[in-house]
Amino acid sequence: MTSANSDSGSAPYVAMLSAVAALGGLLFGYDTAVIAGAIGFLRTHFALDAASTGWAASSALLGCLIGAGIAGSIADRIGRKKALLTAAVLYVVSGIWSALPSTIAEFSVARILGGVGIGTASVVCPLYIAEISPAGRRGRLVTFNQLAIVIGILVVYFVNYFIAGLGSESWNAATGWRWMFGSAAIPATVFFLLTLLIPESPRWLAEHGRHHEARRTLVRVGGSVQADAELAAITDALREEPVSFGGLLRPGYRTAFLIAAVLAILQQVTGINVFMYYTPEIFKQLGSGTNTALLETISVGGMNLLFTLVALRLVDRFGRKPLMITGAAGMTLAHAGLGIAAFNNLLGTWVLVLVLGFIAFFAMSLGPVVWIIIAEVFPTRIRGRGMAIATLLLWGTNYVVSQTFPMINESPWLVATFGHAFPFLLYGSFCLLTVFFVLFVVPETKGKSLEEIEKLWKR
Ligand code: BGC
Repeated sequence: MTSANSDSGSAPYVAMLSAVAALGGLLFGYDTAVIAGAIGFLRTHFALDAASTGWAASSALLGCLIGAGIAGSIADRIGRKKALLTAAVLYVVSGIWSALPSTIAEFSVARILGGVGIGTASVVCPLYIAEISPAGRRGRLVTFNQLAIVIGILVVYFVNYFIAGLGSESWNAATGWRWMFGSAAIPATVFFLLTLLIPESPRWLAEHGRHHEARRTLVRVGGSVQADAELAAITDALREEPVSFGGLLRPGYRTAFLIAAVLAILQQVTGINVFMYYTPEIFKQLGSGTNTALLETISVGGMNLLFTLVALRLVDRFGRKPLMITGAAGMTLAHAGLGIAAFNNLLGTWVLVLVLGFIAFFAMSLGPVVWIIIAEVFPTRIRGRGMAIATLLLWGTNYVVSQTFPMINESPWLVATFGHAFPFLLYGSFCLLTVFFVLFVVPETKGKSLEEIEKLWKR
């Protein structure tokens, strides 16, 4: 890839490497949200009940959990680049395989495999970007990844809509959903080919004694002066003793760990992925036809992208806390409104407005900010481990919420008591809890260097 001036480095070069790695994030969005357009047809095709529908939607997430769990040690052992290539291969294989199954069990295995790819990418993509980028631009480049995730979600909503439009309801139940999953193999192949062209992370190279190659990449990134300084810093950092998992609970680290872990869980119990993965079904339940429901889903993806861009502009100006508090408060109100609508069987446009409102509030707050916090609260020595566990908790919670949504949404007892309002009331209560948690426990980290943030925990 492009050459650079050896004295000043090349910002476009770093941006290009980050963009290639962020393609892994795009596929994370694409591959998790593809289920939205397909789940209704899968349900008809395999005659699924509520629990198996939940399983069909969430099996990939179990794979994500595995992937996120092993990604760190894989990336340490074989390198970041090979870990990304592994994720890409898993994406391709899973895309093709999940288009071909004849049983739901086979489908789930194919999806779990893809999930391992997603989980791996969710750890290694931001890690690679963070390791390749100069300190001053690290935060912004890491948020590139969240942007890529929401673009992936929007793109697959379009693809689903396009594929569903190619045939009738029965064609879609027999064949259309296969194309939806299979389509993921195309961006996955592009990701694989482009990843072949990027260099290994200089930090990993230095750790494995390959200082010469590490320096070569650092020079292209930041120029020779900065390269020597960074190489020295990396070598210094490598001399520090690594901290064990138990070390995360030591005083001084404990609060950082608590904040990252609780926010990771709270981000998911807001029910965001119920909307990301089940939106067309929710819209159908609330009165829309299949085509309208998929079109409405595209507006959900568009809103998500739009307000992620808003958040990226505001997060360093207004800070993390005001965004999260406003967002979580807005999400609480949207859930309350949806609960009232579902309880009274009120259908129509204002349901769409409430869903879009919920998405906007999430996208401007917990969507990007939780990932930023997970990446910045940990002291350097425990950042890797801390991030890995927080990410694992995020996927685990996502799995539980997505698996149980159809079950609580269709439970005869809950429906008899609450109509279809119960899920909204449940997720809404967690949004309210988030407001208080952020207000009273989370400190503001805007504008602080990583070292200043570290000092917060020592108080
Ligand atoms: C969450 C994902 C979610 C996405 C939606 C991310 O921050 O971690 O679970 O699907 O936002 O935009």
